[in-house]
Amino acid sequence: MCAHVLAAVAWPYANGPRHIGHVSGFGVPSDVFGRYMRMSGHDVLMVSGTDEHGTAIQVQADKDGLTPRETADKYHRIIAEDLAALGCCYDLYTRTTTINHREVVQELFRTLHRNGYIIAQTEQGAISPSTGRTLPDRYIEGTCPHCGYDGARGDQCDNCGRQLDPIDLKDPRSRLNGETPEFVETEHFFLDLPALAEALGRWLETRDDWRPNVLRFSQNLLKELRPRAITRDLDWGIPVPVEGWDDLAMKRIYVWFDAVIGYLSASIEWAKRSGDPQAWKQWWANDEARSYYFMGKDNITFHSVIWPGILLGANGEGAKGGEPSPVLGHLDLPTEVVSSEYLTMSGSKFASSRGHVIYVRDFLAEFGPDSLRYFIAVAGPENQDADFTWDEFVRRNNYELANEWGNLVNRSISMAHKNVGAIPAAGELTEDDRALLEASKAAFATVGDLWGRCKFKAATTEAMRIVSLANKYISDQEPWKLKDDPARRDTVLHVALQAVQDCNTLLTPLLPHAAQRIFEALGGEGVWAPQPELVVVDEEGGPDYPVLRGDYASALARWESTPIEVGRPLAKPSPLFAKLDDKLGETGPSWAPIS
Ligand code: MF3
Ligand code: ZN
Repeated sequence: MCAHVLAAVAWPYANGPRHIGHVSGFGVPSDVFGRYMRMSGHDVLMVSGTDEHGTAIQVQADKDGLTPRETADKYHRIIAEDLAALGCCYDLYTRTTTINHREVVQELFRTLHRNGYIIAQTEQGAISPSTGRTLPDRYIEGTCPHCGYDGARGDQCDNCGRQLDPIDLKDPRSRLNGETPEFVETEHFFLDLPALAEALGRWLETRDDWRPNVLRFSQNLLKELRPRAITRDLDWGIPVPVEGWDDLAMKRIYVWFDAVIGYLSASIEWAKRSGDPQAWKQWWANDEARSYYFMGKDNITFHSVIWPGILLGANGEGAKGGEPSPVLGHLDLPTEVVSSEYLTMSGSKFASSRGHVIYVRDFLAEFGPDSLRYFIAVAGPENQDADFTWDEFVRRNNYELANEWGNLVNRSISMAHKNVGAIPAAGELTEDDRALLEASKAAFATVGDLWGRCKFKAATTEAMRIVSLANKYISDQEPWKLKDDPARRDTVLHVALQAVQDCNTLLTPLLPHAAQRIFEALGGEGVWAPQPELVVVDEEGGPDYPVLRGDYASALARWESTPIEVGRPLAKPSPLFAKLDDKLGETGPSWAPIS
């Protein structure tokens, strides 16, 4: 068994609050996986943070009349709070504007440059005549030279799917103010992907357990690798650590180059804060360690080609050879890129600009985290695009969570509370009793295997199958009719409560908030399923900032059947999952009405 597991979670942009489509791609899948891995005894390091550089933040700041830094501060806090409320157990959720991050990014940049994988080239860059500012590729619109579509963007055409450069567009115009960009010669650094292609191809060939669509997509990318610009004409970003470039106000490292390095820099920051500055190497320089990267599918390129390319080049493992950084040493490549497809809302893409959006914050305030986590696991975009509708949400919540799981917990504990007041002892077991107990024990192997392989839908279905078995057991045994045979009644209640305990463990990675309450309802004391906390930290030479972290190692939940303790007093349980009005399915909530 591998002890060290890195859960590397995509970094949300600091250009606005996140919607449920975002967290269906990276947030919920990574946390379910991370919790399962912790429960099953692995040393998990789960890191991420807010992605705060680049034009997306610059543009939002201009809209809000704030500086990029103020915008980043504002949304970093909001996003961190939302992820905490969703229950995401980061060992460290930090941000890309830290000094630590800048230093790690610059160290990797220098190493790649020294090894020959970063080369300078000139290109035709677009600038806005009215502001003199560079226009980023995706803020230029025009007619596609290939298919004639007139809403093509400077980075790609959404109609025919082709990659474009802004200079290729016919009738180019700025999406920010409509003006026609000017093109000027500009020098940039490029990541020499062709020099890394062979090494990347060899590595990808060994990745056989990835989701097939992710692997196929990544292998296709290798066919047309070109050098890729990793600097921009922009003043909001990390300075380029090359002599003659480091003091240029308008040359910065491209946001994607800096963001992916966040996985490493956040691990290093975590280690420093843990008191053992070298501890990160257990996840990064360790053949036995495994690393899983979680994201939505628009991020695949950056995780299955660019990031491994950066690592190979920094390790000196591409066609040009080279030496690892003396500071960082040899760094491990991803074990698996776990990408989700898209979540749409009532048939179309989420679009904050059109108000077609469900923000995480609004959702959690009304419905709580576990019903969202459940929906995403069971009906989310695991292997294909999925649609969120209120109707489906109400159905899943009412008929699966409330009627099946909530009801099982509630009626088992209520009956035991009313008749015994404590967890009753079992007498001799019948075949039916044994069958249920064996099924719930056996599920630890099957469900655990599925959680560990990120097959969330199948894992949930299998856990819920045991819930149904337990419900059927109670209906068949009819303990309420056993007033004259209290010993048998107690045995049935004992078996039912043990099944509840087991199902609760099986579902803990997915429904941690409910799991803690059920644990307590069964008389447990202490932390069963831990939660992250938001704390304010600082670093030498920099301002304070909030991060997420937590004490996860001392939590009680273990991936095994834990025997219930006979004699533990039971209180009257309160309902676990509120049933939602069916009308919600037709109207939506007031803050996101169905139009
Ligand atoms: N900020 C990007 C997005 O929201 C994701 C960055 S993931 C990272 O699409 F790995 F680069 F950090
Ligand atoms: Zn086109």
